[in-house]
Amino acid sequence: MGWSWVNVLVDVPMFAGLPKRQLGRIAELAVEKRMPAYTEIVRAGDIGRSFFVILDGTATVRREGKRPVRLTAGDFFGEMALLDGGPRAASVVADTEMLVMMIGRKDFIAMLEREPKVAVKMLTAIATRLRAAQSSPKD
Ligand code: CMP
Repeated sequence: MGWSWVNVLVDVPMFAGLPKRQLGRIAELAVEKRMPAYTEIVRAGDIGRSFFVILDGTATVRREGKRPVRLTAGDFFGEMALLDGGPRAASVVADTEMLVMMIGRKDFIAMLEREPKVAVKMLTAIATRLRAAQSSPKD
């Protein structure tokens, strides 16, 4: 997606505090994609190939028998299947027209290895999600 996106990535919480040079390197790994409302961006059970960060719009994480979770600009998804190689744990569906950035699996892992601050921010968000998932009743 190129260096012109650095000014957008600066406002993404998981990239907060990174120098512009590092943001530029991340932008080089990513592609931006616009999607119409109601697109199923990720399907539960599929093999994971990409990681996503929402730049604009909202999406809902849908898991069978669990409460839906709303994701908005600055949130990420699709990390689980890339990290452990298992199937997509949930479906993620666009509620609105969306702008997302996509990073392929190899580049996603390389980014986390190169940018430990990004990795820690992601772990923090995953811990918060785990707490919410543990506390939310089934139905
Ligand atoms: P992945 O399993 O690759 O694809 C589905 C994605 O939905 C998953 O990665 C997470 O990014 C996201 N997801 C799954 N469960 C939750 C949850 N409880 N809260 C927020 N996001 C989730």
